[in-house]
Amino acid sequence: MGAGNKKFSWKNIHPNCKPTTRVLSAGYDPAFSEMSAKTPIFPTSTFLFKSAEHGERFFHLMSHPEERGEDEDPGLIYSRMNNPNMEIVEDKMLVMEPGAEDAVVLPSGMSAISTMCLALLKPGDIIIYSAPVYGGTEHLFEMILPKFGIETKPIYSPEISEYRDNLDKYKEKIAMIFIETPTNPTIVHTDIEEIIGLAGKYSSGENKIKVAVDNTFMGPVFQNPIPLGADLVVYSATKFIGGHSDLIGGFVLGKKDDIWQIKSYRSVLGATTDPFCCWMISRSLETIDLRMRKCAENATKIAAFLADHPKIEKVVYPTVLNKESSQYQIYEKQCKGPGALISFYIRGGKREAFSLLDNVEICKLAVSLGGTETLIQHPRRMTHAELSDDMCKRVGLTDSMVRLSVGVEDPDDIIEDLKKALEKVR
Ligand SMILES: Cc1ncc(COP(=O)(O)O)c(C=O)c1O
Repeated sequence: MGAGNKKFSWKNIHPNCKPTTRVLSAGYDPAFSEMSAKTPIFPTSTFLFKSAEHGERFFHLMSHPEERGEDEDPGLIYSRMNNPNMEIVEDKMLVMEPGAEDAVVLPSGMSAISTMCLALLKPGDIIIYSAPVYGGTEHLFEMILPKFGIETKPIYSPEISEYRDNLDKYKEKIAMIFIETPTNPTIVHTDIEEIIGLAGKYSSGENKIKVAVDNTFMGPVFQNPIPLGADLVVYSATKFIGGHSDLIGGFVLGKKDDIWQIKSYRSVLGATTDPFCCWMISRSLETIDLRMRKCAENATKIAAFLADHPKIEKVVYPTVLNKESSQYQIYEKQCKGPGALISFYIRGGKREAFSLLDNVEICKLAVSLGGTETLIQHPRRMTHAELSDDMCKRVGLTDSMVRLSVGVEDPDDIIEDLKKALEKVR
């Protein structure tokens, strides 16, 4: 917020500083609110126009944003369309995602993905996507988008040749490549630059294949797809961005035209994020760097412990990967840190995995991720229960897999908790 202040752009504040510095001030001009150091909350459904002419102009700019003058205030109309807290949190998120031209906040990660797809795709289009994806995304892709004439094709391996085969087969019908990297819950990395290169090769003047990356697990601290050439980045802000397991939210970031299109769908679909939730996300963005780094440092220690434990068959986490593996090389190339999600396979199956889940005392048995507390869950029977047996088999999602989202506790306490619970697994 702060349009109209000609001397200073709060949107683009301290342009030479790092995102962790800029995020503290971005989007909010204290002079607009009694010099309040922190952003106020604006619980209003509607906004007053200074004159009828202003009202007319604001409505006109809603549908013709390209006509807005450089210093012209686009105005606020009605909170389903826009609200100061929505604008503030979008401006803050924008500084965290280098290279993005604009950001749109949505009321959940699923709302971000579904509004993006509805806004940018049309009947007859095909999306190819990295499988597995989060269970809700899978449901959207397989059960809902086909009803609107949008076909989806899962790619079961991060191998670039699989993407190429599909591009050869479906050619110009492919409008989007959607990759979740690393994948939930198998923690498989897809090479973002290779996908972008491929999309570029198969794009033509009229048919630009958009690459959308679900960056929920790593970003914006550990992975930035836009400088690599991605068109769109989506987030569940419910996870590391909110960071305290106390809100639901989402974002899409990318090029101005695409984000404008998504914002216009958001208004009509009514996918509005309430001012208090936007305010909570704004507050959380101030500490995202600190939290994500601490969670990753803890996860590195915990993954090493799990990798050495006789009751654990395999751990999937960047720092315990074989350094020669292609997965490690992709990780090294595109990530700035390992993140905080560990998936591991316990020896045995569902019975042993459930026994571990029922015996932990400090780790909390719940789905979701990216909060301050360590969460443990069983993807095959919980978050990804809807996935077909065939899909699970192809991607190695078995009943012995457990997913841990590591929090900010003392890592030795979590290790002790897991150690004691593993002793009880028979
Ligand atoms: C990778 C990923 N993307 C999207 C979502 C959906 O986010 P939300 O629950 O905020 O709708 C999730 C939820 O767990 C997720 O893990």
